[in-house]
Amino acid sequence: MLEVRQLSKAFSGLKAVDDASLDARAGEIVALIGPNGAGKTTLFAAIAGFHRPDAGVVRFDGVDITGQAPHRICAAGMVRTFQITQPFAKISVRDNIMVGAYARIADRTAAASRAEAIARRVGMGRQLDQRGADLTVAGRKRLELARALATGPRLLLLDEVMAGLNPTEITEIVDVIKAIRADGVTILLIEHVMQAVTSLADRVYVLNQGRVIAEGTPAAIAADPVVVEAYLGHGAAARLGGQHA
Ligand SMILES: Nc1ncnc2c1ncn2[C@@H]1O[C@H](COP(=O)(O)OP(=O)(O)OP(=O)(O)O)[C@@H](O)[C@H]1O
Ligand SMILES: [Mg+2]
Repeated sequence: MLEVRQLSKAFSGLKAVDDASLDARAGEIVALIGPNGAGKTTLFAAIAGFHRPDAGVVRFDGVDITGQAPHRICAAGMVRTFQITQPFAKISVRDNIMVGAYARIADRTAAASRAEAIARRVGMGRQLDQRGADLTVAGRKRLELARALATGPRLLLLDEVMAGLNPTEITEIVDVIKAIRADGVTILLIEHVMQAVTSLADRVYVLNQGRVIAEGTPAAIAADPVVVEAYLGHGAAARLGGQHA
């Protein structure tokens, strides 16, 4: 469904994404992990049309969409969430989600009822009339997910939707994401919460200094010395290996 080939993106000399390739097949949940500053958000932004890549190709359902505008990519069925959530502060949760719904639906009443259905799906059914500004961190993360879902994606890119949530809230959002996949939406997610990656992802890609350094099942990735090294550095893999020996 999604094919990213040899994508690079630099910011004034700094190679934020360096020759990265990845795939998401229909129905999969794929995780993208890596240390802070690895280039994960930049890669998402380049895939979804927010940055024009310096090199490389993004194909969606076999169609080259490299460099297309975000609204066109959204219309084709791919949408991303933002790591830094920015809900419209002065309007309600319902109206915020309707902004997403208008990507597919022109009619106001229909958009409102779609927004309400999606709010219930992400556990915000009781917060429809709350203002964006009055939401907790968890509420803002749910709203960001709802706004993206309301655009009717077939491929959903989630950028750290669990950051700042407590363990109960994480369990709830993991269940929401499982239900979204069960409805037929393919998911690519950036996540630092490893417990969530392990319980959700079919496959994991590890990005380090802009490069994909590993790909595999969550169990294989957790046991990969190259990955341990990238996170902990300075011979950590060898030291850990020594401890286990
Ligand atoms: N718009 C930009 N202009 C200049 N440099 C940028 C820009 N966006 C990102 N960078 C730099 O590119 C590198 C990758 O950043 P990015 O936000 O993609 O990392 P990340 O893996 O998402 O990190 P985190 O886990 O902290 O969210 C960093 O060094 C960052 O400072
Ligand atoms: Mg990021």
